[in-house]
Amino acid sequence: MSDFIPVAKTHEIPASGKLCLEVEDRFVVLVRVDDDYFCIDDLCTHDGGTLGDGELKGNCLVCPRHGAEFDVRTGDAVTMPATEATVAHEVKVEGDQILVKLSEE
Ligand code: FES
Repeated sequence: MSDFIPVAKTHEIPASGKLCLEVEDRFVVLVRVDDDYFCIDDLCTHDGGTLGDGELKGNCLVCPRHGAEFDVRTGDAVTMPATEATVAHEVKVEGDQILVKLSEE
């Protein structure tokens, strides 16, 4: 079971912005929506696109390859052509430090 790992400072991500990171050999995208932070795998479940290169649309990250949208709060695929969720990771903020706890999946 992994613990929370410090990954970035809050000022490193603009409002409605994102940051691609490698955390313990796993590629993830840290997303800021208003003052909330979320983290999902940098991996589209349709055909392996890198979600970190996609556009943020409200609470969703849009895969740049074929346009599937993933809810950054849950990892759920909300539009075709993706049908399976990508993995979402737990995030917490302590002061200006953002920490991520990697899911076991
Ligand atoms: S690889 Fe992401 S929508 Fe196809």
